[in-house]
Amino acid sequence: MTTSRYAVASAPAKVILFGEHFVVYGVPALVAAIDLRAEALLAEREDGLIYIGAPDLGLAGYFDAEGSFRPEEGGKEAEGALRPIFVAVREIWRALKARPSGVNVEVRSRIPVAAGLGSSAAVAVSAAAAASWLSAGRLEEELIFKAALEAEKLIHITPSGVDPAISTYGGLIAYKKGEGIRRLEIGAHLELVVGDTGLKRSTGALVAAVRALKDRRPGLFSKLLEAAEELVDEALGALKEGNLRALGELMDISHGLLASIGVSNAALERLVHAARRAGALGAKLTGAGGGGCMIALVEPGKGREVAKAIEEAGGRAFLAAVSEEGVRIERAGPSGA
Ligand code: PMV
Repeated sequence: MTTSRYAVASAPAKVILFGEHFVVYGVPALVAAIDLRAEALLAEREDGLIYIGAPDLGLAGYFDAEGSFRPEEGGKEAEGALRPIFVAVREIWRALKARPSGVNVEVRSRIPVAAGLGSSAAVAVSAAAAASWLSAGRLEEELIFKAALEAEKLIHITPSGVDPAISTYGGLIAYKKGEGIRRLEIGAHLELVVGDTGLKRSTGALVAAVRALKDRRPGLFSKLLEAAEELVDEALGALKEGNLRALGELMDISHGLLASIGVSNAALERLVHAARRAGALGAKLTGAGGGGCMIALVEPGKGREVAKAIEEAGGRAFLAAVSEEGVRIERAGPSGA
């Protein structure tokens, strides 16, 4: 029996309430962590290798210290999914000038993949946090955010950083690219329903398509950015006052703005309209769009009705509570593995 030190960290998924896509160009985003979490277990190993496995996805493989990859399960697909986790861990070691001989990393997640809920960031944040704990005995939040942001850059080239920020810090925040987070006070409980179209999509491809639109129509796009900024200002006011009706209306407008830049689709429209018909105060796509998820804001106690309507329209729906807690250590210690 060998004894190895280990740490298990978890981090939440998120929903973007306002500002996705526009956040890439400097508009603030308002974003909430939700109570669905990803988890990473890191355990030291002796041979200098970094073994990363995602058993739920059937992917696993070895990275050496230079970053060369050897798949064990899942073939070529494994590298694309696992390299961001390797980068997150490596960035923590770099920042802390620490490097254990090697580690086993096992990631598990209850967050739907490629659905706009920030699953890749939550996995990277969890892995970075467990590495921080093993190397320094504490959670260095700023470093964890930065390490997960480096990981996100492999997934799409110009991430705003909103996903790793909310997954690290939790709660309800305003995030501005290059500036960081501001915690928001809210005057009401937010009851949110998430509807998943079940269509997987690539955030990178959608961000690139929006960039191409911006380059084709710079004048028009700058007006849309202005509108997005004003929406966020008004939403901040509505949140502070706890004015759910106003917030719902602003969510509807936000959805229209996102549709105008081409990131909605028929499946999202179906779920958004079903939620509104069932009495939601407002509904919009969330995250990169093109499939993935939408969210609906509902009056307290109305969540189940709206969730049912979303399911009847072909989506998978669940009620989501805002999670105050960001990244955290679940357990750690020496193990007899
Ligand atoms: O992770 P997703 O798919 O929810 O999208 C992230 C939000 C975007 O604004 C579309 C991209 C970004 O980097 O901010």
